Amino acid sequence: MKIVHVASELFPYMKTGGLADAVGALSAALADDGHEVSVFLPGYRAACEHGDAAAAARRLRFKVELAGDFLAGDVRAFSPRKNLTVYLICREEFFDRRAPYGNGERDYDDNSDRFIFFCKAVVEMLRLADLQADIVHCHDWQAALVPVLLRDSERRHGVTLALKTVFTIHNIAYQGVFPAKTFARTNLPEELYHIDGLEYYSQVNLMKGGILFADRVTTVSPRYAREIQTADFGCGLDGVVQTRADDIVGLLNGVDTGVWNPATDALLPARYSAGNLAGKKVCRTELLKRCGFVVETTGPIFGIVARLTEQKGMDFVLGNADFFLAQDCRLVVLGSGDKRLETHLRELAAVAPQKICFAAKLDEGMSHLIEAGADFFVMPSVFEPCGLNQMYSQVYGTVPIVSRVGGLADTVIDADENPAAGTGLMCEPEVLSLRDALQRALMLFADRPRYAAVQQRGMARDFSWNVAARAYEQLYQDSL
Ligand code: ADP
Ligand code: GLC
Repeated sequence: MKIVHVASELFPYMKTGGLADAVGALSAALADDGHEVSVFLPGYRAACEHGDAAAAARRLRFKVELAGDFLAGDVRAFSPRKNLTVYLICREEFFDRRAPYGNGERDYDDNSDRFIFFCKAVVEMLRLADLQADIVHCHDWQAALVPVLLRDSERRHGVTLALKTVFTIHNIAYQGVFPAKTFARTNLPEELYHIDGLEYYSQVNLMKGGILFADRVTTVSPRYAREIQTADFGCGLDGVVQTRADDIVGLLNGVDTGVWNPATDALLPARYSAGNLAGKKVCRTELLKRCGFVVETTGPIFGIVARLTEQKGMDFVLGNADFFLAQDCRLVVLGSGDKRLETHLRELAAVAPQKICFAAKLDEGMSHLIEAGADFFVMPSVFEPCGLNQMYSQVYGTVPIVSRVGGLADTVIDADENPAAGTGLMCEPEVLSLRDALQRALMLFADRPRYAAVQQRGMARDFSWNVAARAYEQLYQDSL
């Protein structure tokens, strides 16, 4: 099949979270299976500066219209592996910036123009480069206009640029909602600014377009597919999702074993496997040193790697500050984002620097070291479409403590409820329930044989992308 992915993140060119990992791994797996795969990504500064792009041989110029303004851009194409082509949609004014969505304090004011431009450019490139796509697979709100534009171009000009479209919701909390006047920038017919179109409480909602106009809608775990049809998790789009109830499926993400595998991970000071955990000890010692903790610690290390947003349940962690201060344990948090959360975590680390370490930065190497060196990985999310870190932790022999939501509930088994099959500990997304799980973690850690059994079961699980890639292939075939 000729498969085109459209996304605002793609590992290793731009990443703020799991979207980049998921699109990177899925497109690579499909390419390895012999499909002809293209991925469209905005030409962010970091992406353009990446060695692959700098060597890009092919450049194409194009122009698209946003409400009477004709905006030019150019596309750089390169092929990082067999059967895979990456297209960077470049326009300096929009994408030559350090961060993809905002300046750290707030979102960029021109995000609507930036991503409308991106979507229009993708459609224009499908035409100019004559890609003859069987499937155009769009991810999250930044790419959600593409199925709408394709449907419109077919209706208005009779041109079919893609046989079928798929839209994947990686996170329904981000919808791309903009003022009503934004609609004109899409140049779509007025009738689409309607309750059955992009209109949403007198504003424009781009994700709504993806959900309504794609031929198939997916999300990243079976449980989240059900959750987003309820008011508690649908973030106001539950009714819209319900209209696609027959078409929506939840396909779990996988682990890209080329990047996340303790036996081959070049970012670690030592490598290891389930059969020989000596290297994990080396990673643990290195982690303790990096955090400035004494190396001879007895209690467990709790690790966290996360975007600091409300989603990740960091308030429940902070609500348990006294636990981390009082118990024989260490806490290391790597993450940046919400300034309030950063401040509270910094203050907490300042109270007990010998026990709590907080690094407010993006650090790929450190994220691998935490996954490998910690004893428990803490992820008490309020909601979690899929979540990758709880899978990475199981693969790395680090027991996950997760809340019972979305993909977390689909990928972790509680070791107290299910002693024979447990791979982690589960709680509700609340302070007290997390405290209970943390206490159970101390008991588990003290019982070495039981801890080792839980760890081994996690390491034995197969979270590889093969399963997910097959499921997407099947979905593409079915829709065709
Ligand atoms: P989400 O996509 O909601 O952020 P996921 O668990 O799906 O959550 O994926 C998060 C990804 O981002 C993981 O690969 C994680 O290691 C990475 N990540 C998050 N914060 C950081 C950070 N500060 N430094 C390095 N990697 C990070
Ligand atoms: C989103 C979700 C996360 C998911 C990732 C990749 O960022 O928050 O749960 O794992 O997308 O699908």
